[in-house]
Amino acid sequence: MCGIVGYIGQQGAASILVNGLRSLEYRGYDSAGLALAGDGGPLRVVRASGKLANLAGKVDLSDPAPLGIGHTRWATHGRPTEENAHPHRSGDGRVVAVHNGIFENFLELRQELKAAGETFQSETDTECFPVMVAHLMKQGRPFPAAFREAVGRMRGIYALACLHAEDPDRILAARSGPPLVIGLGDGETFLASDVVPLLPHTRRVIFLEDGDLAELTREGAQITDLEGNPVERAVHTIPYDPVAAEKGGYKHFMQKEIFEQPQALSNTLLNRLPLDAESIPLDLPFSDADLRGLSRIHIVACGTSWHAGLVGKFLIEQLSRVAVEVDYASEYRYREPVIQPGTLLIGITQSGETADTLAAMKEAAARGARTLAICNVMGSTATRQAEATLLTHAGPEIGVASTKAFTTQLAVLTLLALKLGEVRGTLDPDLKAGLLQGLRELPAHLERMNALEPRILQWAQRWKDADDFLYLGRGPCYPIALEGALKLKEISYIHAEGYPAGEMKHGPIALIDKNLPVVALMPHDAHREKTLSNLQEAAARDGRILALVTEGDTGLAAIAEDVLEIPAVHPWLAPILYTVPLQLLAYHIAVLRGCDVDQPRNLAKSVTVE
Ligand code: F6R
Repeated sequence: MCGIVGYIGQQGAASILVNGLRSLEYRGYDSAGLALAGDGGPLRVVRASGKLANLAGKVDLSDPAPLGIGHTRWATHGRPTEENAHPHRSGDGRVVAVHNGIFENFLELRQELKAAGETFQSETDTECFPVMVAHLMKQGRPFPAAFREAVGRMRGIYALACLHAEDPDRILAARSGPPLVIGLGDGETFLASDVVPLLPHTRRVIFLEDGDLAELTREGAQITDLEGNPVERAVHTIPYDPVAAEKGGYKHFMQKEIFEQPQALSNTLLNRLPLDAESIPLDLPFSDADLRGLSRIHIVACGTSWHAGLVGKFLIEQLSRVAVEVDYASEYRYREPVIQPGTLLIGITQSGETADTLAAMKEAAARGARTLAICNVMGSTATRQAEATLLTHAGPEIGVASTKAFTTQLAVLTLLALKLGEVRGTLDPDLKAGLLQGLRELPAHLERMNALEPRILQWAQRWKDADDFLYLGRGPCYPIALEGALKLKEISYIHAEGYPAGEMKHGPIALIDKNLPVVALMPHDAHREKTLSNLQEAAARDGRILALVTEGDTGLAAIAEDVLEIPAVHPWLAPILYTVPLQLLAYHIAVLRGCDVDQPRNLAKSVTVE
């Protein structure tokens, strides 16, 4: 949601900024703009509503200006028009700024500035910032001092980048809330909302923290607090290859990311699977006594990550016997959760920037819970906010619909459940050995899942015009039914529901007729017989069953329209495998319906508002 880029160096900034904004498109946006300066000519501000192509069509990409800032806006307050697009300017046109977040006191500041004779052109909250900087400069403050003072006057959350038309040597930035990352090059410095736009240029980055102000020059960046005191921030080297954020021959990022799952899983498991009978090497700052003393675990997350949390509950309770509650983060934060001594709060978030999840984590910490983030983005807010982090090493996920981040979350949750069971003495050694061996074999099984694509494409061709889908599963595959339904609805806009198969008879069975595809997950586990009975009830009402079963299971052959055989794995690892065909089904149906798979309507990759 909203993206910022900035560049100061020797090259023309225009194409670097447009390419940077392009790689932030996945975050979601509905207008875009940029400002160019630093070559002695007048400041150029170009903005456009709609897709980035509209902006790129208006910008001279060969413009030599070596300094600039750019922005993609996802409208929250005010329509996605060109006038409301960033950058915004001061009345004298010299100070420009881009902003993610919201200035809560902007009305009061506008009144104050208007009373002092300043003028405004838009209705946005952002505009009061450049106007305030210019106003303070009129009173004699140099640009950096005016910037710092103006930041101090803003209430709310912000990531800000700002430049002055007549100051060719710096970009000023500030962070309190939404992320900002500085990229360090050779004689050039970059700024962005996340690391993806930086990857083609540099892998050396600094993550700004809340309360940081930064001055970017061609030589690097100086960071201070609001009072101007220098602040040290570590330089990180991002392990991603630049091609990790490119489509690499695939038609869409989502397809590439589905196919990357074997590798993503291997990377996530690397060095985390013990050899022989050693204990599970999960790098956690909690002592064994802390883990033994846990009385309860609360998991908070949103969307797909919440589905991972439901699988996590199943695994943790089975393996470690700690009671687990799973909550939507947006509900948890407002329900005055009861936190007993010994509560561990796990926030699951791919991006590490989801406002609801961050707030829920904060709420739990304030009430005394220990906190752990399961996250895919190193240096993101969740990883800095939580006491401990387990990273999923899925690599950058660009498609808005989460795929490889989800399956790697499931892998990390399995490891965590095993670790808790091991430390708490509730884990049967044979079960541990079986699950660890199963995890070792999973990447190879995932490769076999990818090979199912042609069969899934046939399903997609047959069912692409359905109005509704029902997904059914039980036990740890019930959340996978929810995830299959979410994937389909968010990218193909077909209504879909996921249900525990046993719950079907309590309502959704009324929907079943010859036009309703029922996607059934029936691994050969303790729930198989029950699921089979539930599906017979659906078939008896003419439901069209598309089944995923364990290799060799012929139980559904007589009643299902089609059956896909999935490699036999331990039932508690089945969720990871059974997810893949559902991702591919959603993907191919969306493509056949002509939908924008990587950027579905109305959705944003990281949801930084409530
Ligand atoms: C669905 C999807 C979303 C996210 C949700 C949470 O495909 O991607 O439902 O899972 O917005 O995002 P994170 O995991 O970044 O907190």
